[in-house]
Amino acid sequence: MADKQAKLELGGESHDFPVLEGTCGPDVVDIRKMYGTTGKFTYDPGYKSTASCESALTYIDGQEGVLLHRGYPIGQLAEKSSFMEVSYLLLNGELPSSDELDDFTYTITRHTMLHDQMRQFYQGFRRDAHPMAIMCGVVGALSAFYHDSTDISDPEHRKISSHRLIAKMPTIAAMAYKYSVGQPFLYPDNSLSYTGNFLRMTFGVPAEEYEVIPEVESAMDKIFILHADHEQNASTSTVRLAGSSGANPFACISAGIACLWGPAHGGANEAALNMLREIGTPDRIPHYIERAKDKNDPFRLMGFGHRVYKNYDPRAAVMQKTVREVFEALNVKDPVFETALQLEEIALNDDYFREKKLFPNVDFYSGIILSAIGFPTTMFTALFALARTVGWVAQWNEMISDPGQVIGRPRQLYTGPTQRDYVPLDQR
Ligand code: ACO
Repeated sequence: MADKQAKLELGGESHDFPVLEGTCGPDVVDIRKMYGTTGKFTYDPGYKSTASCESALTYIDGQEGVLLHRGYPIGQLAEKSSFMEVSYLLLNGELPSSDELDDFTYTITRHTMLHDQMRQFYQGFRRDAHPMAIMCGVVGALSAFYHDSTDISDPEHRKISSHRLIAKMPTIAAMAYKYSVGQPFLYPDNSLSYTGNFLRMTFGVPAEEYEVIPEVESAMDKIFILHADHEQNASTSTVRLAGSSGANPFACISAGIACLWGPAHGGANEAALNMLREIGTPDRIPHYIERAKDKNDPFRLMGFGHRVYKNYDPRAAVMQKTVREVFEALNVKDPVFETALQLEEIALNDDYFREKKLFPNVDFYSGIILSAIGFPTTMFTALFALARTVGWVAQWNEMISDPGQVIGRPRQLYTGPTQRDYVPLDQR
């Protein structure tokens, strides 16, 4: 029995529920037996007060602006580590030794090719298909090609399918881009880094040698690290819920991609850059700030606000710094960055945003970097999906490995008609 108990008074009766303690963060009241003992459900539509699972992967303190992966602060990982290293950390719980990292990178690199028949799927999409539409379809279709790794009760199968997903995602995303611009697909080049290979498959052409610019490779790798995992966000919860029924990992990740696509989630980076371009020049900012504050106007400042962060998103700080690094390396300037900086300053000094604790999130600056590198806005969310795949598979693995895992099945507050008799058509 847990040391701490929570008391619930209901209809004159008192019920005790255990209070569970994590290693960090608020305690949780364990209400798993609540329906059995009280006959009542709890009601929490957006999960604002509900922990849906136990997890040892990622910790966020939204009030303080802290994000830890397996205990390591995101700022340190972004500065000192690589996406492959962070992927290993998320999947295995500890930072790899040098040999372990080499082995892991080798394994991922050796799974980057797609079954050649999958190329034909792309031809089935319209040329102007959104890359996320292609990603949902192609990633789900992986389950039709890799039957040898879909026994989810076998840890080895889970490992192989996780590696396949992480490895093939850059190839799938790059092919979605190539298809949209009418250029030939490029096969992976395993002599390059994970990120360098992705850049080459995206921007290279068969007729020319593609040279990976180290600063761009490093910025891209940082962006991947910053998007690798973010505890129980909407898409991760979707992956867990889909996986809880025993669905295969490729289908589950495809479900996560679908959820990520929405503008309130991963689609916000595309929406944020579109918004900044629409604002255009700093003198137009006040008008948009007023619109964002107007309850009768659906406009919101995209890239601002977060369900969990009520302080500066630590990922946004790294992003802002990376914009400068990329601009310098590529010797480019984009007036949209100046607009973004001024918009941030005006919003952070505005009572509306201060009172509601609305700060820039990871998406506010990421689009500016991606655009400078050469990605069209439609690719932004696909890149997010590519990077988040490691978080999704790590969370999915954690869930399936838990012997107490059960199917996710929320209940509801029913507000429809009470029972009534069917009325024949001629009497209606
Ligand atoms: N601009 C203007 N007002 C905002 C914004 C914003 N970007 N975000 C929240 N608010 C206001 C809301 O109108 C609401 O006001 P009210 O209390 O007077 O009704 C209040 O702040 C709280 O907002 P909610 O929507 O209830 O907060 P929630 O936690 O549900 O939403 C969300 C978080 C969806 C991220 C929201 O802030 C938003 O829509 N932001 C813009 C989209 C965005 O950038 N999404 C990316 C999130 S990060 C990620 O997915 C990687």
